Amino acid sequence: MNSPVVVLGARGMLGTDLMACFARQEIAARGYDLPDFSIVDKNQVEQAIDGAGVVINCAAYTNVEKAESEQALAFQVNGEAVGVLGRIAGSKGIPVLHISTDFVFDGTLDRPYVETDAVNPVSAYGASKYEGEKALIASGCRCCIVRVQWTYGKNGVNFIKKMLDAARAGKPLKVVDDQVGAPTATEEVSQIVCSLIHLPAFPEGVYHLAAGGYVSRFEMAKFLFTTLGMTVDLSPCKTSDFPSAAKRPLNSRFNCSKMEALLGAKMRPWQDALRDYLTII
Ligand SMILES: NC(=O)c1ccc[n+]([C@@H]2O[C@H](COP(=O)([O-])OP(=O)(O)OC[C@H]3O[C@@H](n4cnc5c(N)ncnc54)[C@H](OP(=O)(O)O)[C@@H]3O)[C@@H](O)[C@H]2O)c1
Repeated sequence: MNSPVVVLGARGMLGTDLMACFARQEIAARGYDLPDFSIVDKNQVEQAIDGAGVVINCAAYTNVEKAESEQALAFQVNGEAVGVLGRIAGSKGIPVLHISTDFVFDGTLDRPYVETDAVNPVSAYGASKYEGEKALIASGCRCCIVRVQWTYGKNGVNFIKKMLDAARAGKPLKVVDDQVGAPTATEEVSQIVCSLIHLPAFPEGVYHLAAGGYVSRFEMAKFLFTTLGMTVDLSPCKTSDFPSAAKRPLNSRFNCSKMEALLGAKMRPWQDALRDYLTII
């Protein structure tokens, strides 16, 4: 690809790793983010993506709890703006790879979700992200929607950092054992996204992307502390024990066969990348 990659949301948890991945691979990339760029500003989007070979959209309103009381903003950023991005990109012939989420599902299915399963968001954040998916598809641009779940990275707040901070503060920890997914490193997501945009044909459609295997949040916390040799007062509890504004899907498991077929490779087990991550944070 001769034209640069444009990354929106380039300073977020995923965006930072993506930019680093492009830098390592000597792929020309331009990154944009708040406060000097907003995806809701049509003119800024026009300028930002001008001349791009592909746009990767990681920009999002991601505060799941706050989205319940800031629905208008969440829908503007995660919904409407994605449609506008699609229309502008479509008019310039630029493909868009857009990052979405397991929160488009209600999490009640008793098996891992495939891309064609019915969506039914149970939170304002999930509903706003689904609006974005629909708006992007409706825009008619060439688009690839990559849904990720349970991501963690060096930059930004995530479940793993929260667990380690609480444990290091010597607090007893109660962790839910009824939410199941696959902890997925943004480093791995970045490498895969990088491979996707270099495929001979841009992969249009919806894809699920997660590390291999599944685990509950409680078992994952146990894995963290065992791996680090930490003794922590850890006990299981249920999601319903924690009052929260937003409902969360209990089953976040993804079937990634479609993505694996595209890449010609299996997803690495979640434990592998997590072990690497624990050596650097
Ligand atoms: N983290 C997860 O577990 C998870 C799970 C599933 C899917 N995802 C998806 O993964 C993608 C990347 O999220 P992330 O985890 O990297 O979260 P993040 O760290 O919050 O990154 C999102 C980035 O978008 C920026 N942003 C917010 N509003 C914007 C606007 N109006 N214009 C431009 N940029 C804006 C944020 O800036 P500020 O920080 O200044 O607000 C932030 O830099 C998102 O699409 C998210 O929905 C994440």
